[in-house]
Amino acid sequence: MDILHYQADFINYLDSKEWVREPKNLYEPIDYIIKLGGKRIRPILTLMGADIFSGEYKNALPAALAVEVFHNFTLIHDDIMDDAPLRRGKVTVHEKWDVNTGILSGDAMLILAYQYFENYEPKIFQKLAQIFSKTALEVCDGQQLDVDFETRNDVTIEEYINMIRLKTSVLVAAALKMGAIVAEASDEDADLIYDFGLNLGLAFQLQDDFLDAFGNPETFGKQIGGDIIENKKTFLYLKSLEVANEVDRDKLLYFFSHKLEDNSTKITEVTRIFELNDIPLLIKEEIKNYTDKAFSTLSSMNISEESKQGLKKFGLWLMNRSV
Ligand code: IPE
Ligand code: IPE
Ligand code: MG
Ligand code: MG
Ligand code: MG
Repeated sequence: MDILHYQADFINYLDSKEWVREPKNLYEPIDYIIKLGGKRIRPILTLMGADIFSGEYKNALPAALAVEVFHNFTLIHDDIMDDAPLRRGKVTVHEKWDVNTGILSGDAMLILAYQYFENYEPKIFQKLAQIFSKTALEVCDGQQLDVDFETRNDVTIEEYINMIRLKTSVLVAAALKMGAIVAEASDEDADLIYDFGLNLGLAFQLQDDFLDAFGNPETFGKQIGGDIIENKKTFLYLKSLEVANEVDRDKLLYFFSHKLEDNSTKITEVTRIFELNDIPLLIKEEIKNYTDKAFSTLSSMNISEESKQGLKKFGLWLMNRSV
């Protein structure tokens, strides 16, 4: 079935929920972030995961909602941590309200996410809660590493890959696995689809890092250059250090160990160094490598050819996205 079909079914389900109740100052920010939109990648994957193993993907809607509400919670807190002004083309929760609101509305969303598992019988509930708790803690691990790296100047590409596996990939992988769990797939199948998601998630975060510097500001929906401002040790930066000449390398090391009042020169200079060193090309190769790695997991999976094509199509959509 088409990706957009899963997306539309999920959005219908989402819209059927009432988010705002008392106290309004807690729930209105939740309603705001959830209705800002987004690609709904993770819930689509949960529905796809369920469809592949049982054909009854609608049973997975509450699990899909848990994943999306959790994701939106991480976005609110991530935007506080990254000092981000824009999300999905609109002002971020902590800027529209304040940081305290962002913290507590985010906390409430994490709890709401768990409540959706109450829709499942104990055996499924337990499996969902188990993968979800493990994943949520890993996301915290990844987010902490991401912040720790801002003030380090010796981060390796290997450490970076481990960090994005934790902050991003595990949730993409768990989204698929949760669909498989709802569909009562075998543990072996659930683990294989998880592995597919892990590699796809790495490609996805690499693409996110690429777009952060090179996305179209009209359509991207987030501040361009946000990672440069925050001294994020992304693949773009780490690869540049490897291949740039000494003058540019020293510039990068200088810029990424300072936080500035006015970032316009920093963003222009760093972006120029990235371009001069063909980093956009190199990151695109890396994205393709991880996508291909994900695709190679598919061949060892015992699912229909149609399902494999569906997952492949999804991977290609992610790899070529501009938002
Ligand atoms: C943004 O995720 C955060 C990352 C892990 C890169 P998405 O790119 O899925 O954001 P939305 O939900 O579509 O806005
Ligand atoms: C975010 O990574 C990962 C999580 C939200 C857990 P980023 O900080 O790169 O995400 P964006 O770019 O703000 O969406
Ligand atoms: Mg961020
Ligand atoms: Mg972040
Ligand atoms: Mg980003």
